[in-house]
Amino acid sequence: MEKSLSFLLAELEQFGKTNDATITDRPRRMLNITRDTGEFLDLLVRATNARRVLEIGTSNGYSTLWLAHAARALGGKVTTVDLSRFKFDMAAGNFARAGLTAFIDQLQDDAGKLLARQSDAAFDLIFLDSERPEYPGWWPEIRRVLRPGGLLVVDNATSHVAEMAPFVALVKADQQFSSCLVPVGNGEFMATRSL
Ligand SMILES: C[S@@+](CC[C@H](N)C(=O)[O-])C[C@H]1O[C@@H](n2cnc3c(N)ncnc32)[C@H](O)[C@@H]1O
Repeated sequence: MEKSLSFLLAELEQFGKTNDATITDRPRRMLNITRDTGEFLDLLVRATNARRVLEIGTSNGYSTLWLAHAARALGGKVTTVDLSRFKFDMAAGNFARAGLTAFIDQLQDDAGKLLARQSDAAFDLIFLDSERPEYPGWWPEIRRVLRPGGLLVVDNATSHVAEMAPFVALVKADQQFSSCLVPVGNGEFMATRSL
């Protein structure tokens, strides 16, 4: 990784920690993934050759930078969506600073609406890190837009077990999906759709 991106990621890690320790208003918190989760996502994109990546929950773009760093190496792109204008603007600035804007399609929208507009099997990898109570309602569209053999990664599977339970149960009950829990960072629930 180039030094400038490494420095930016370290700066965002520090900013996220300080910001979230002092601010209680959830829409103003960054709620970033951990660094080891970022490294894991980078590796997953490369290992699965995921050129079409969807992220639900951009925040200030910390996780997007990891995904885009890997997607760039493959000639791919990350589509990322966040409902918040405040977060959208912060992330856009960080993407420009990282020189990764060309590898990111950034949208300010509701994830449910964005999912409904996508064609079947549009993505190789989906990273879900948003409002957990919404996940069960998004599941029919998520499973539709993930290509067969594609990978779904969901953050907070060990940090928010109870909130994740309804979604995890839905995926586990789906005969077309195999899933597992990976204890990296806040816990990554992963599922792949049968070919
Ligand atoms: C946990 S944060 C994402 C953190 C980010 N992935 C990272 O690690 O840097 C969740 C984000 O989901 C966004 N969000 C909440 N509801 C949403 C919705 N219905 N559609 C799109 N984004 C939403 C919030 O604005 C928030 O920025």
